[in-house]
Amino acid sequence: MNSQAPEPVAALAVEGLTAGYGGPPVIENVSIRARLGEITAIVGPNGAGKSTLLKAIAGLIRPTAGRVFVEGSEVTGQPAERLVRRGLAYVPQVANVFPDLTIRENLEMGGYSRKAGVRERIEQLFKLFPDLKGSAHRQANTLSGGQRTMLALARGLMVDPAVLILDEPSAGLAPRFQGAIWERIEEIRATNVAVLVIEQNTRETLRHAQWAYVLVLGQNRLEGPGHDLLNDDEVVDLYVGRLS
Ligand SMILES: Nc1ncnc2c1ncn2[C@@H]1O[C@H](COP(=O)(O)OP(=O)(O)O)[C@@H](O)[C@H]1O
Ligand SMILES: [Mg+2]
Repeated sequence: MNSQAPEPVAALAVEGLTAGYGGPPVIENVSIRARLGEITAIVGPNGAGKSTLLKAIAGLIRPTAGRVFVEGSEVTGQPAERLVRRGLAYVPQVANVFPDLTIRENLEMGGYSRKAGVRERIEQLFKLFPDLKGSAHRQANTLSGGQRTMLALARGLMVDPAVLILDEPSAGLAPRFQGAIWERIEEIRATNVAVLVIEQNTRETLRHAQWAYVLVLGQNRLEGPGHDLLNDDEVVDLYVGRLS
């Protein structure tokens, strides 16, 4: 008899995923989990396959092996637009908002798959992103890079995802925006979303991550609580750098 309580189902479970772009696999046999209300990070050197892993999870490229589960249901190989309806939202590295639409219209488009409550959800998100509220009528192409990133995050949240996947949300922004983006990510996490994130600043990322995976050459290298990895000599020497 096993008297242990069963493990709660992870919001996202990835098992043995292998994927690439037609040639040799870029990621191989990668397994990760992300839980509701936690920030889960993928760190590792440039070219390790972090973005490829996220794309394979989010249905932008088709894995050649392995399985992906959202809240216990298998979704492997489903296209991105189906995955959105299963509770998985993906915000790509280049914040792709519709430049000719206003902030509000962008959010309405993000909520197209909602059956109801688009207007109410937009109001909720304006509480989380007060800067967007004041500019709701502005066209996205008039926004700063930082505002555009916030819009991309908010748009991803329009579908109430269980899992929000973020590929370098601060890419291309001045370092001073990084703090503001982490604040928003923490607020999103606190609404009981499983946030899976790649960010450039490994030290800062590990500080925020309840759990982090180090990916090297397309494979799992090690994993643990972000704070533990920050105290791991190998991780610090190879991927974080010592503070001088
Ligand atoms: N669209 C693509 N077509 C072919 N190869 C790609 C493509 N995107 C990335 N790669 C290759 O996949 C490898 C991993 O890239 P990527 O997943 O972007 O790494 P990371 O996000 O960790 O920097 C690299 O060698 C890169 O050149
Ligand atoms: Mg990348």
